[in-house]
Amino acid sequence: MNNHPAYNATIIVTQELEDELGKILARYPKDKVFLVTEQNCDKLCVPLISKTPGFSNLQKVVIPSGEENKKLSSVETIWLFLSQNGADRKSLVVNLGGGMLTDLGSFAASTIKRGMDFVNIPTTLLAQVDASVGGKTGFNFNGLKNEIGVINQPNTVLIDTRFLQTIDSKNFISGYAEMIKHGLINSPEHLDEVRNYDLKKPDLEILRGIIARSVAIKDSFVFKDPNERNIRKALNFGHTIGHAFESSALESGHPILHGYAVAYGMIAELYLSHKVCNLPLATLNKLSDWLISVYGKYPIEERQFESFYQLMTHDKKNEGTRVNFTLIPAVGEVAINQNCDKALIFEALEYYKQFSI
Ligand SMILES: NC(=O)c1ccc[n+]([C@@H]2O[C@H](COP(=O)([O-])OP(=O)(O)OC[C@H]3O[C@@H](n4cnc5c(N)ncnc54)[C@H](O)[C@@H]3O)[C@@H](O)[C@H]2O)c1
Ligand SMILES: [Zn+2]
Repeated sequence: MNNHPAYNATIIVTQELEDELGKILARYPKDKVFLVTEQNCDKLCVPLISKTPGFSNLQKVVIPSGEENKKLSSVETIWLFLSQNGADRKSLVVNLGGGMLTDLGSFAASTIKRGMDFVNIPTTLLAQVDASVGGKTGFNFNGLKNEIGVINQPNTVLIDTRFLQTIDSKNFISGYAEMIKHGLINSPEHLDEVRNYDLKKPDLEILRGIIARSVAIKDSFVFKDPNERNIRKALNFGHTIGHAFESSALESGHPILHGYAVAYGMIAELYLSHKVCNLPLATLNKLSDWLISVYGKYPIEERQFESFYQLMTHDKKNEGTRVNFTLIPAVGEVAINQNCDKALIFEALEYYKQFSI
């Protein structure tokens, strides 16, 4: 049941993005439509939408690319631009970019003048299947990821795979991990179609359908529980241990992309699923082999286990020394709020470790 009446985001996966965007722009006064983007997307993605009817009315602000710019001063740049150019509560903000930009632009639009309408046009696979949908907005602060933010849904999310022509293979494979996750938590059929997708020869036509089904899975969890009180936690599968991989790699000065960290986290959490929820051993081993074949070996050492565990216990969602996980009893099923102790988490890291050497 949807316990959040304000949930009203429309997700459109389309080849006619200009038509869809044009229809949306036509609903707003000509001088009240704004485009927020970042430098790489200004070069690579803006040309793909420049024939949109009404495009020339859009007043554009461009912020620097990259996660290091997901910060307060970038939000200020957007606020200032909107404020100085007459944005008001009747305005529309169009966010064009990857997850960094859609998180930031959505936050700026949600907070200025107590909130204005905004549309997300995600340009990376990660943003198309995950970040641009669900209403989590915000920026990094005080060295902590997404420390400041609000949950506020976009009016519309327009998804077009043409943008993916220019993303590099690492960013592509990173976003692919979230589609694998959607299959694991919700649908063996989706997992199969994701697994059968040819990563060596990416076909954007085939991908369009897979993305549509993947994002519908995310949307269904968000719809039931927009504020993550219960079932939306399903989407955290792989992320508790994944975030430890991500933070540890960042601290070591050799960052890894989010989806890679989640893939490694999923291997360890599949092990926990086997121990706590009886996920069959054969399924565990088969999935782990496959994940390593896609994401490569990222070796860790036993002496890192303690610091990984410390990173997990610092998570606000945990009580005491046990760590809260979302696990899967079978492919397509979830069990939320599964607490695991330190010894079992070390076992899971040990299981991962032997796969990664
Ligand atoms: N709100 C959520 O629910 C949610 C979920 C997952 C991730 N996120 C956030 O998303 C961010 C990661 O998103 P991301 O992986 O898209 O990162 P990103 O937005 O930084 O994009 C990755 C890189 O690709 C470039 N790029 C973007 N579109 C491109 C295109 N079409 N062609 C070529 N290059 C392009 C960007 O300039 C950047 O260099 C993180 O900040 C993360 O916290 C949010
Ligand atoms: Zn993720």
